[in-house]
This record gives sequence, C-alpha cells and structure tokens, in this order.
Amino acid sequence: MDQAQLDWWRSAVIYQIYPRSFADANGDGMGDLPGITSRLGSLKSLGIDAIWLSPFMRSPQKDAGYDVSDYCDVDPLFGTLDDFDRMLATAHSLGLRVLIDLVPNHTSDQHEWFKRAVAASPGSPEREFYHFRDGDTPPNNWQSMFGGPAWTRLPDGQWYCHLFDSSQPDLNWENPKVQEAFEDILRFWLDRGVDGFRVDQPHAMGKAAGLPDHPDVERAGAGFIEGEPSPPMWFQESVHPIFRRWRAILDSYPGERAMCGEAYVLPLSFMALWVRPDEFHQTFNFRYLDSPWTAKDIRKTIDESFAAFGAVGAPSTWVLSNHDVMRHASRMGGDFGRTTASDGVGPNDKQPDAELGLKRAVAATLFTLGLPGSMYLYQGEELGLPEHTTLAPEFRQDPTFARTNGERVGRDGCRVPLPWESNVNESNGFNQTGKSWLPQPASYSNYARDLQEGVEGSTLETYKWALAKRKELNLGHGTFEWVNELCSDTSLAYRNGSLLVIHNFGDDVLESENGLIHLEANQTVWLEQS
Ligand code: NOJ
Repeated sequence: MDQAQLDWWRSAVIYQIYPRSFADANGDGMGDLPGITSRLGSLKSLGIDAIWLSPFMRSPQKDAGYDVSDYCDVDPLFGTLDDFDRMLATAHSLGLRVLIDLVPNHTSDQHEWFKRAVAASPGSPEREFYHFRDGDTPPNNWQSMFGGPAWTRLPDGQWYCHLFDSSQPDLNWENPKVQEAFEDILRFWLDRGVDGFRVDQPHAMGKAAGLPDHPDVERAGAGFIEGEPSPPMWFQESVHPIFRRWRAILDSYPGERAMCGEAYVLPLSFMALWVRPDEFHQTFNFRYLDSPWTAKDIRKTIDESFAAFGAVGAPSTWVLSNHDVMRHASRMGGDFGRTTASDGVGPNDKQPDAELGLKRAVAATLFTLGLPGSMYLYQGEELGLPEHTTLAPEFRQDPTFARTNGERVGRDGCRVPLPWESNVNESNGFNQTGKSWLPQPASYSNYARDLQEGVEGSTLETYKWALAKRKELNLGHGTFEWVNELCSDTSLAYRNGSLLVIHNFGDDVLESENGLIHLEANQTVWLEQS
C-alpha cells in the first residue's frame, strides 16, 4: 500500500449521512439503513471517499439518536445489525470507507447502566457509572447545553448530571468499568469492519475533581470563553489517556482505522492537542465553520489551522455544514452571525436570501475543496439545499426547542429529509410513500437530485467536477501558499500544486490589473497552471 492510501484520512472527503433523513426504504417516513444501502451508488458517483453515519444505535430518540440505550445494536427504526452489515459490505465494495458515530459522554436514561443505577441505592457501585450527588439544591451551577440546569433530581433525592437533555445522563469517566465497557464497544464495531469513529463530545467526558462551580455562567452559559481557563466540564487533561488507549486499539486492527473527535476546543492551538500522533486522527475544524465569511477572517483561520495542526503533524479538516448548524446555503444568504449549534432560524426571524446564499455557498465550497487536508460534507449540500427556516412549531423535535420554550428554535431546519426525485410524491422520493418525519419546505422539489443529475452548472455537477479534480490533482495531499498579489480585503488566492484558487468575497466584479483575471461577485475560480 502506498503512503497516500495508508494515510487516507489525511486527505479524505467524508460525507456525513444523517440516517433519519437520507433515504427511507420501508416508507415509514424515517430514513433507514436499507435506504442508505440503496443510494450508496449515488455517493460513489459524487466522488467522496468515506461516509460518516450519525447514530443509528438503539435509542429512545430524545436527541435524534445521540441518546443511546444500547451501543451494540441497531435501533429498529433504522433496521437490524444484518442491515448494517449489508450496508457496510456494499460501501466497501464501492470503495467507500465507513465511520460511525460513538457517543461516550452520556447514555440515554433508558440504557441498562442508568436503569440499574436508578434502581440501586445512593453510594452503590451502580451509581458510580454516572455523576450522582446529594443536596437540597442542584450540586453546582452547571447549565445544560440545551438550556436549563445540568442537574435533575430523582425521587430518592439524589441529583444526576447531564450536560445535554435530562434524558442524557453523563457517564463518570473516572470509573474504570466505564472505560472498559467502551473499549469493548469499540472492538464490537471494529470487529464488524467499520473504518473508524466520529466521537461525540470527547471534550466533555472529563469532569474536574469535586465538580466545582463553573467560574462564569453569566458570560459563558453552559460553554466556555476562549482564552480563559477551561471550566470544570470542558477539555480536562484527564481524558487524554483514554483516547491514547483507543488509538492503540484502532491501530491494532488492519487497514488504518481512524477516529475524528468532535472536540469543540478553541483556540485551534488547544484543539491540536487532541490530534497529537497517538490520539485522534482528526478533529472538526469548527473555527472554519464558525468564521465569518470574509477575506480577513478566512485567511486568519486558514493560517491558524495549518500552524496549529501542522505543529503536531496532523492534517486540518475543513467543514461548512453539519446536522447541528444552519446549512451554509442559508447561513450565507444574509447576516446570521455565527449561528452555532442549537440556535437556528425560525418563521418569525429574518429570512435568508436563497439565491445569494446558494451562490456564496457553492463558491465557499469550491474555495474550501482546493485546500490540502480532509473535507467533511453534510448530506444535501451537494444539492444546494437551504435550511428549512419556516418549520411550524408542532413539528419541532430538537430538545432545545422545548427546553427553552421555543426561544431557541433548534436544529431541525438542517435535518429535513432529502429530495431525490422531484414531485414523485410529497417527500420528493425520500421514500415510496411521501411520508416524512419532518416535512420538507415547498422549495425542496426544485433541488431534487434527479433535476440536477447530468445538468451542467447544477450544484450537484459542480460538486462532482470539483471532487473529481481534487482527486486527479491529489489536492488533499497537496501544498499551500497564498498568492498575495491576488489577495485583498475582498479576495483571497492560494496555490495548491498546479492549481490556483481565487475567491471573490465581494459584491463587485474583481479584475486583476493586467485584466487576465476576472471574477464575478461571490465567485471562485480554479485555474490549472502548468
Ligand atoms: C453533538 C452532536 O453533534 C449533537 O447533535 C448532539 O445533540 C450533542 N453532541 C449531544 O450528544
């Protein structure tokens, strides 16, 4: 195997599948594993290298599967373990690698471990699996990421900690039994043949001894303030040995299994500690996703990314959309600020300009796909799908909506089922029945895959073209240098090998002094130079 193949994760384009919304084979309105299997050919033709599946394990679905009640089984909503094996075999036969989502910070409150803990008495070994505390008031001031306090009280008076929904109790990672249990879970999936894991919230797993108060909930809420010492529930040093052991387990399997941490740790120089050579292979570059789309911010972010990850010998990843943020085709269609996790845009908010958003989004994607490193795509962005910003309250399922009494609309708008065949039924071919767990907005029929397939200039064909070129020129393993004479307050240009990439961030035409280069507003060009 040559080095490029060995280091596949350094340059891979990884496509995120949100199983609830990708494709539905049994017509119940909820996507499933057989649906994914049936549509893998279309991902192969898109030109990606790997897929990452958001959780499909057994779960009461209080947080769309990020509340797992059995890590080693498939939820009947999505099919069976046999369906998983068939999906995996099909992906592998097409040359696509498969990463699955592992959620180790918390379980569902319906997991056996939690049920046993609740049934056992305070102080019992069963309760040691989680963070239980006594007291008449919540044990500390920690807040849930989804709103409200991070503590819920049991009838016997003890409180348990949950950094997310009350149905997602946090595990106690100081407990060796928890650590062992997860090593078994890793092996279970590695033995089945998965190529690795996307690890949910690894930076939340360690909690400072004694669970002291968050030093500044006033300013930081449930989160942290960049540049200030980490609060007691975020990026604790104690977790790193755990990931080193996981890495050793992955490395003991053939075929370069990889893990990507959803380590929301900033600045990037801190995030880079998570991708030291014996820990995670990758982390999501959230700084890139969060950066305002301006020449100044993007240049700074790219410089910081190469410096931080390069210092530890890791590739940078690049990402513009996922299942937790407003889709970039809508985010860029107006001034929506950072629009990070859980906020979103609802029917009463200012609405994005769909045309402008799509133009900017495709240009942003092209600008990004020219960079060396690994790129994450989120299902539907290859169709230019906008966010569903007018979803009615009765359909909302994200726990954020309920926990904040609708003040934060949550993330449902980016999780709507995909349109495959325009107007064949109410769900545009998401299944045979037209049912859909979240209704699509009327505009989705215009974005269906069949309308774009083979149509020059469509978003889909633009993605395919760029992904093929990226592969042909080996851009993922390439080099990077700014072309300063083409950079300004409203433009950026860089070279990756023989490719010159120029992006016009501005609303005016961009022309070089010698007249050789001409870009429309919000446009990216790729120029191959010999
Ligand atoms: C991050 C996941 O991406 C998000 O969807 C989920 O709600 C939280 N982690 C909690 O698991």
